[in-house]
Amino acid sequence: MGKITIAIDGYSSTGKSTIAKRLAATLNYIYVDTGAMYRAVTLFALNHGLITDGQVAADTLIPKLKEIRLKFLPNAETGKSEMYLNGENVEQEIRTMKVSNQVSKVAAVKEVREMLVKIQQEMGKDKGIVMDGRDIGTVVFPDAELKLFMTASPETRAARRYKELLEKGEEVTYPEVLQNVQERDRIDSTRTESPLRKAKDAIEFDNSDMGLEEQFERIHDFAQRVIAKQG
Ligand code: DC
Repeated sequence: MGKITIAIDGYSSTGKSTIAKRLAATLNYIYVDTGAMYRAVTLFALNHGLITDGQVAADTLIPKLKEIRLKFLPNAETGKSEMYLNGENVEQEIRTMKVSNQVSKVAAVKEVREMLVKIQQEMGKDKGIVMDGRDIGTVVFPDAELKLFMTASPETRAARRYKELLEKGEEVTYPEVLQNVQERDRIDSTRTESPLRKAKDAIEFDNSDMGLEEQFERIHDFAQRVIAKQG
């Protein structure tokens, strides 16, 4: 059966990665979390002192981008893929609020996007991939056979994110997380370079009131129908 490309875009904390991971595992496809790539570049910028007072020193960051090596490698115990930045496992660190608070600004830098989009297109050139992010159906794979756009209210998303962060032992408050979610939505959807928007041919899913099982079943069903059509 022919393999397809599945693009999953949407706002932060809409459960894109949970669905994308499960879909990829069920279909035996590759899963790529492009947010992790933007987060790793942000960590690199923070580690090099290139973000001060919330401002990204883009002029200094851009020539340094060629020093960045990103790799997804499976964790030997869990089998889950984890992000490596220049040989170091940064999976935990890229999920902290320190990175979340700056990532949208780094993701707005044109040269950062150009570099990462190129890597993503290379990863998906043989299809059989589920990729999640903000611009997958619009920029990275505009010809993807299946495009999904996930939404949920900011409050629902912040509550999910807050729970996750608490479980990881981060000391955060709900208002702080809600503010981060809203601020990232604002920056991600208003930036000049590839702003977050629904592709014309994407199927929209508002999962504010939908359980994970129901959501997965519906999406899996869509995917199977599209794959069957490919023959
Ligand atoms: O999916 P996430 O929350 O881990 O993504 C982190 C940030 O990276 C998000 O605020 C916007 C940016 N991003 C992007 O601009 N384009 C992508 N394809 C993926 C993420």
